[in-house]
Amino acid sequence: MKLLIKQGKIVDPVSGIGGKMDILIEDGRISCIGSQLEDRYAQVVDARGFAVCAGLVDMHVHLRDPGLTYKEDIVTGTAAAAHGGFTSIACMANTKPVADNPETIRYIREKAQQEGSGVQVWPVGAVTVGLQGEQHTDFKALKAAGAVALSDDGVPVMDANLMRDALIMAGRQKLPILCHEEDSTLADNYAVNEGRVSRQLGIHGRPAIAEEIMIMRDAMLAEETGQPVHICHISTAKSVEIVRRYKRRGVQITCETCPQYFTLTHEQVLLQGSMARVNPPLRPTKDVEAIVEGLRDGTIDCIVTDHAPHSAEEKAKPLTEAPSGMVGLETSLAIALTQLYHTGKMSLADVIRKMTINPARILRLRKGSLGMGADADLTIFDPNEAWTIDRGHFRSKGRNTPFAGMQVKGKVKYTIVGGNIIYRYDA
Ligand code: DOR
Ligand code: ZN
Repeated sequence: MKLLIKQGKIVDPVSGIGGKMDILIEDGRISCIGSQLEDRYAQVVDARGFAVCAGLVDMHVHLRDPGLTYKEDIVTGTAAAAHGGFTSIACMANTKPVADNPETIRYIREKAQQEGSGVQVWPVGAVTVGLQGEQHTDFKALKAAGAVALSDDGVPVMDANLMRDALIMAGRQKLPILCHEEDSTLADNYAVNEGRVSRQLGIHGRPAIAEEIMIMRDAMLAEETGQPVHICHISTAKSVEIVRRYKRRGVQITCETCPQYFTLTHEQVLLQGSMARVNPPLRPTKDVEAIVEGLRDGTIDCIVTDHAPHSAEEKAKPLTEAPSGMVGLETSLAIALTQLYHTGKMSLADVIRKMTINPARILRLRKGSLGMGADADLTIFDPNEAWTIDRGHFRSKGRNTPFAGMQVKGKVKYTIVGGNIIYRYDA
């Protein structure tokens, strides 16, 4: 099977290849990139007017499979990913049972291969048994089963000594640790940011320092142990400042944020209630602006979704009882383009860098660029096509988006994995 992608505008921050080009794909790999390629045996994809980049990589997704499949499963979650332009996703360990054992890691990989949409699924193993924060999992066995990283995401690893040992042990296995940074003694199970909105609602909030104090601890542990650390979904101005400072000191620290944190403020909770509930919570405007600045200056390495589907019944509960989380796979690229590229704040290549090569490098995946010989994982999108977010069109079981009705610009046209078209937009 050969595929010839004609006259798309190449966006590849790694090679710097740009401009209108043809890409020939043979045997699942990119065999040639040139200004005018012909191949009479190839299936042709007309990419005129579209951008072509390496397949998007999302290193923070909750697929809910096994055990929580009323929220999402591997079939619907990978379909949503393909619909959103993702070709590789890493899925978090807070499933039922927890992905703290090799069998669950293998189950995820096999089900994704057999029943998934074609999107590559890279499981994340738990740092601690049952996400209880008390005892390390067997990192070596998790790695052997196919885990690409370790995380207790959803909850923090509160025990500093355990985290310190985990960084050293994970370093030996070359597994990055992805840290959910909210000190539970400060954040408790509160529903919103501590500030104007929590006061107006008369409820307790999660203060910014709950996040910042944990990032500071893990930045210091990374420096002390000499091991890399990756900070999940950062959301405050001071968090950005801490990461910036530790990067300057040469510490191996990377971080990610999500569309909600560079787009929405905590005021959304007043408008949308539990639909705007997420951990960490939405923050005030000054934080949103600092997240954008962190993306611009390179402090924030990755844009991830933290796709966290919940059922309609769960999200219909009152704000203080509903679970936290938002879906994101099917809106992430469009929101990133709308908020960062179309506003002139970032170049197209810089947005794509944070959704391809940067997460791929952190997870040590040979993905995220379009060089010759690379895996033929590609995303083709119209950066200028305007549309309105409609949750009725989602492939995900989750309908919990705070972005419904938002006007965005940027539409995925094709998602290609290993040279196979796994999603195609039909007007
Ligand atoms: O809002 C969140 N939901 N944040 C997390 O870290 C976990 C996620 C979930 O699993 O629902
Ligand atoms: Zn998290």
